[in-house]
Amino acid sequence: MDFVVNVMFILVLSVTASPPFLVPVLGSRHGQWSTERKLINSWGSEDLVTNLPGQPKVHFQHYAGYVTVNERSGRALFYWFYEASTLPNDKPLVLWLNGGPGCSSVGYGATQEIGPFIVDSEGHALKLNPYAWNTEANMLFVESPVGVGFSYSNTTTEYDSLGDDFTANDAYAFLHKWFLKFPSYKSSMFYVAGESYAGKYVPELAELILDKNKDPSLFIDLRGILLGNPETCDAEDWKGLVDYAWSHAVVSDETHRTIRDSCDFNSNNTWSNKDCSQAVDEVLKQYKVIDIYSLYTSVCIGNSTGSEQTSLQVMFRRTSKMVSSNLSVMLVFVLTAYEK
Ligand SMILES: *[C@@H]1O[C@H](CO)[C@@H](O)[C@H](O)[C@H]1NC(C)=O
Ligand SMILES: *[C@@H]1O[C@H](CO)[C@@H](O)[C@H](O)[C@H]1NC(C)=O
Ligand SMILES: *[C@@H]1O[C@H](CO)[C@@H](O)[C@H](O)[C@H]1NC(C)=O
Ligand SMILES: *[C@@H]1O[C@H](CO)[C@@H](O)[C@H](O)[C@H]1NC(C)=O
Repeated sequence: MDFVVNVMFILVLSVTASPPFLVPVLGSRHGQWSTERKLINSWGSEDLVTNLPGQPKVHFQHYAGYVTVNERSGRALFYWFYEASTLPNDKPLVLWLNGGPGCSSVGYGATQEIGPFIVDSEGHALKLNPYAWNTEANMLFVESPVGVGFSYSNTTTEYDSLGDDFTANDAYAFLHKWFLKFPSYKSSMFYVAGESYAGKYVPELAELILDKNKDPSLFIDLRGILLGNPETCDAEDWKGLVDYAWSHAVVSDETHRTIRDSCDFNSNNTWSNKDCSQAVDEVLKQYKVIDIYSLYTSVCIGNSTGSEQTSLQVMFRRTSKMVSSNLSVMLVFVLTAYEK
């Protein structure tokens, strides 16, 4: 989604004060077809993907497999790692997390959004993604937490105790184990990126990395985080949605002023203020004809009967403080349907 990608680039935040020096690069590579692997002597090569059905021919390697994050419980996270399409040793490593909570990073991020291979519209084969991020970075897509996508726990009762801390700790354990498979990336410039509910996962993992970095043996060269369409907190998210609409001429100055003057998004009864409620509905109404995720592209009109049914299903599965009126319910649907 273009919108998501644009926002991500805007929101690159510097989280360390490191000077922009060159990161030591381990191993070497002599052109794209080099058979000299920097993975020699590590066990990542076991995970090399050699025969992905329908895959177009490419000049970079990719790997997929499991990393055990807790042996006692039998918890393992599934990853899919695409090397940068050129000069991978010189490019940063980006960990990508989809949100949800519960959305697959392989099913969405990697194969529908920013991975190099996306599923074609008939679902018969893979095609190259012109917006693939691995032109600029080594992309590590991880299914997180356990229970999502191919990631699992053999102690299934753990699925009842998942939470943000649990998720961050497993993701952190994953990273160190993964670096054992791919040691040349341990010293790479590192970024954590994600969208939607990863607005929580990403900063929480980043904070854990910075805390643990106090021990030099655990050092990870975290340079920044990237968030697209992030869920942060309801009040800020509403404010952001409204300001974004106004700053992109989706709504008038008057509507924006009414919202600014009448809405208290921090309150528990934001929507009991009628002026606020109506003005916000006016914003949301625009997104029936404009794609909220890509303001400047034409909307993809689906089969309305079918999509309404989906929206109802999604709607009733979700309770949210964000819901104020029917239009807001629609928005929650839109956000939920896109939560990836
Ligand atoms: C989970 O259990 C299966 C079946 O016993 C086993 O093959 C697998 O290695 C276990 N996974 C982990 C992460 O221990
Ligand atoms: C909103 O409700 C919660 C729980 O009922 C309460 O703890 C909180 O203080 C309330 N916030 C405001 C701004 O009234
Ligand atoms: C849209 O809905 C109509 C009527 O329910 C159905 O006949 C048609 O096949 C649907 N089209 C698509 C593309 O799903
Ligand atoms: C939502 O829609 C239902 C049915 O269309 C209607 O009865 C109800 O009054 C609407 N609620 C609001 C808050 O607009």
